[in-house]
Amino acid sequence: MIGVFDSGHGGLTVLQALTRHLPRQRFLYLGDHGHAPYGNREPEEIYRLTVAAVERLFGQGCRLVVLACNTAAATGLRRLQQTWLPQHFPDRRVIGVLVPMVEAITGVPWMADIRTGRHRGEPRTVAIFATRHTVRTGAFVEEIGKRAPEITVVQQACPVLVTLIERAAPEAVLRRAVRRYSALLMRQLQGVPPDAVILGCTHYPLVADLFAEALPPGVEVLSQPDITARSLKAYLQRHPEFDTAGGDEAPPEFFTTGDAARVSTLATRFYGRPALFRAIGAEALAGVR
Ligand code: DGL
Repeated sequence: MIGVFDSGHGGLTVLQALTRHLPRQRFLYLGDHGHAPYGNREPEEIYRLTVAAVERLFGQGCRLVVLACNTAAATGLRRLQQTWLPQHFPDRRVIGVLVPMVEAITGVPWMADIRTGRHRGEPRTVAIFATRHTVRTGAFVEEIGKRAPEITVVQQACPVLVTLIERAAPEAVLRRAVRRYSALLMRQLQGVPPDAVILGCTHYPLVADLFAEALPPGVEVLSQPDITARSLKAYLQRHPEFDTAGGDEAPPEFFTTGDAARVSTLATRFYGRPALFRAIGAEALAGVR
């Protein structure tokens, strides 16, 4: 099994792309709906919840876990990979959604000697919409800047958007919020449209059309699901020991720390197909509230 983790429904946008690009892999999804949203929490709490979720997925038989949550990945993926994983599960792996996006936007492979990646192209401005916490970590700014300093990165936090999406707010409410964040971004940019926009939260592809509508025409809107799926495909080719492909296609399994019936109803709407969640106790994830 390949585990896919998010604080709630957002990772379903990634899972959908993973199943499309890798239909024979076995996926197990865990949404920590009982603790969502992560984006306004303290870093240590986000880290503890993430570690607990990964441990839970390992306990279900996953040997590879994809953190389909920028907030979790930006906060603690490196620390988790460098300290917790080698100590507790040296033969398992955890990867995220931030690395594939940084590679895609800069054209520089993550492991490249980044001195060779300097000033490769024309100056560009890339804007990132993300949770408040992802913005605070500065992870996108730092990692893009190291690889492609010709890119100016401008960040805009969208603090209530995940909560609105998780609550299945009416489209008019979502549209208003997206318009407000887009206007704040354009104010930061003094009205000059960016060359591209990254939806740096896996919940946001669910309102990608609203972002496209709110931004000036012609701005490219990049979201993570397909980029992550292509990256996982390449990863499995490099690391066949984590390949879980069976002879036939098997639907993913779904777990939540929230109310399974409610989560399943909303998930079907977001995922585009039935997604029947089973509950695991929220207290199982590190006892954080
Ligand atoms: N989908 C998560 C992300 O990519 C949302 C985080 C949250 O729960 O605030 O950042």
